[in-house]
Amino acid sequence: MYKEIGINISRIKKNLEELSKFNATPGKGLTRLPFTKEAKEATEYIIKEMKGIGLDVRQDGAGSIIGRREGKKKDASVIMIGSHYDSVKNGGNFDGIAGIVAGLELIRAMGENDISTNSPIEIIATNDEEGVRFGDGFFGTRAIAGQLTQEEIAACKDAEGISIAQAMEAYGLDPKDIHLAARTPESIKAFFEIHVEQGPILEVNKKEIGLVQYIVGMHRFKVTIKGRPDHAGTTPMDMRIDPLDAASYVISKISGMAKAVGEGTVATVGALEVFPGAVNIVPSEVKFTVDVRSKKQEYIASVTQQIHEALKEVAQRMGVEYEIIEKLNVAPVKLSEKLMDLMKKNCEKLGFSKEIMLSGAGHDSLVMSEITDVGLIFVPSKNGRSHCPEEWTDYEAFKKGIEVVYHTILDIDQG
Ligand code: HGY
Ligand code: MN
Ligand code: MN
Repeated sequence: MYKEIGINISRIKKNLEELSKFNATPGKGLTRLPFTKEAKEATEYIIKEMKGIGLDVRQDGAGSIIGRREGKKKDASVIMIGSHYDSVKNGGNFDGIAGIVAGLELIRAMGENDISTNSPIEIIATNDEEGVRFGDGFFGTRAIAGQLTQEEIAACKDAEGISIAQAMEAYGLDPKDIHLAARTPESIKAFFEIHVEQGPILEVNKKEIGLVQYIVGMHRFKVTIKGRPDHAGTTPMDMRIDPLDAASYVISKISGMAKAVGEGTVATVGALEVFPGAVNIVPSEVKFTVDVRSKKQEYIASVTQQIHEALKEVAQRMGVEYEIIEKLNVAPVKLSEKLMDLMKKNCEKLGFSKEIMLSGAGHDSLVMSEITDVGLIFVPSKNGRSHCPEEWTDYEAFKKGIEVVYHTILDIDQG
């Protein structure tokens, strides 16, 4: 058995409540998009908290905040714990940010228990995991993995046509420094993430800890369909080149494509824009996003291929033109068996019920698993809800997740 390490729930609660105030949509869920005033406020708070527990703090080239606790072996590879400080639009107060608060509390507990590790420990508060503003995703961890290019950050634009590079400059970051965020795989010993489940499984199965074995792959792209604007009253139906009619046909088939492929494959059209967007104008142009996920890459490819074919069909039949802009394509991953086994053992030693899981949500862990061993832990979401103002997780649940990661970090540090 382990002795109590003193994880302090009221400190977790206070941090989360303070951070929830850095929000562009108060009263309508949490909106904290990258390179915004709210992001700046949240990172300033995180920096203050990190400095308050004695960490060396820096912002990397992608706007992620890194708080470092030195180890006895200065040049040893680093053990990271982290998650993202950005949010979706009108989302909840726990997605991402709770993993950063968990890291703060874990480091506090190490200090209060006079623990000194061989490896340095870093809390990583990543930027723009969600990809809601620019449509991509995992920006901070893709920078750490060295996967970002100047072309991508110049080309990827938000709804106002502002590129990532322009947003970075306005925020005070030099886009040319993006490569400085990259870390070598050998410099990282492991990455841990504690995250709300964002689904119903732990609650329904009455389990305290989710140990994630697989994370789905994700393919995101944006479709633009161009037609011809016309008078809604005088243009006969057979003379229209109506992009919304074409888009509706394609979109209406997408959920059936995912269901037909099966095995948990999902496909979502989350955003749809109609231009010029007037009651009496046949639209000129329509844009919509597509997010396809599955634990098998071939299922993702199959749904994407079918969408391409449906677009080709309507282009011929309805005379519209279309364009597909690739935004994100990350393969499914299996997380570290070594860390999974250690976390399983620690759940048993701590007496926590556990569930081995597939994650349908992406998480920074998805990208970090390409460069290091990753341990991803879920804690239960009330009614399985997330990406909405109703998102809630009991503060006590984080205590359990932190204890599992705390002991697993000590295991690998002394291993
Ligand atoms: O979309 C996701 O899976 C995550 O919330 N970024
Ligand atoms: Mn999310
Ligand atoms: Mn998240």
